[in-house]
Amino acid sequence: MNKITAAITAVGSYVPEDVLTNQMLEEMVETNDEWITTRTGIKERRILKDPNKGTSFLGIQAAKDLIEKNNIDPLEIDMVIFATTSPDMPVAATGVYTASQIGAKNAFAYDLQAACSSFLYGMSTAASYIESGRYKKILLIGADKMSSIINYRDRATCIIFGDGAGAVLFEPNTENLGLQDEFLRSDGVGRDFLKIEAGGSLLPASKETVENGKHYVQQDGKTVFKFAVSNMAEVSQKIMQRNSLAAEDVNWLVPHQANKRIIDATAKRMNLDDKKVLMNIQRYGNTTSATLPLLLSDFEKQFKKGDNLIFASFGGGFTWGSIYLKWAYNS
Ligand code: UT7
Repeated sequence: MNKITAAITAVGSYVPEDVLTNQMLEEMVETNDEWITTRTGIKERRILKDPNKGTSFLGIQAAKDLIEKNNIDPLEIDMVIFATTSPDMPVAATGVYTASQIGAKNAFAYDLQAACSSFLYGMSTAASYIESGRYKKILLIGADKMSSIINYRDRATCIIFGDGAGAVLFEPNTENLGLQDEFLRSDGVGRDFLKIEAGGSLLPASKETVENGKHYVQQDGKTVFKFAVSNMAEVSQKIMQRNSLAAEDVNWLVPHQANKRIIDATAKRMNLDDKKVLMNIQRYGNTTSATLPLLLSDFEKQFKKGDNLIFASFGGGFTWGSIYLKWAYNS
């Protein structure tokens, strides 16, 4: 019998309707379109404005998109992994609520948090469960309502992030398609440079923490940028080398969308042509856990069965890594 590999067999996505443009940010903080565009590549992002809707809403819409487009019976889903850094609530996993809302009554579910690498790590987790033979259909959702944890008076962060969600289905494959290799890393040195300081066990929420804005994302952008450029490029090059992939063997780079300059540096190190580098940062900004599945959804029609995709991410923690996956279907 052929080896069981874990393939992506369906994708879906959702972004909210409301658009936050660079011009609108000019009215909110001291910044300008030219600075944001040249430093990050971002022109606009989507924002979920309804204060009564959390990240689960985004994830549910993306999952429903996948289910409806591909005619999936939710009762057949064995497991839901919800990759997010902005759960609806600290306790009561967002994935559990989401699974119930989409009718995945036979699934068990949980959340996975690794900042901007949540989805990438989730791919590894989902694939391992499939390869084990224990489960047949795993829904991996990446969703974040970043606008709920961003300070719109802090120009170092508010220009970067946006809201969105994507979902993929992992299933067993016997043609050796799907996940081929992964190289995942983390380093706790990162927690000083990208964090939400309050609201956890170390510094529980209080009047003071809220008054001092410690419930918002804080980032030392310059330091994170340096780590991101070198590490994302290094792991992407490493995964190519150890799978004997030359630049011409790689069909697509699927990189985390944090900053166009980080993506360009990674592609350059891999010696990749621009047209193989997937990018939608100009429209969505950094949607954290949603960047990778949103790319898959936006570019799905261009992928061919057997294409070699390299995923790469870098995020808070620090967390980063690269995954080599063979695409399993033609749209
Ligand atoms: O996805 C999770 C991981 N996160 C990332 O990968 C983000 C990594 N970091 C970055 O993408 C970049 O560091 C930023 C986009 C956040 C900032 O870009 P930068 O090129 O590193 O800018 P900087 O912080 O070095 O600031 C350069 C200048 C400073 O002015 P001076 O000191 O040179 O006079 C800043 O005060 O730009 C100023 N500045 C701004 N100006 C206009 C900083 N933010 C802004 C702004 N608008 N929003």
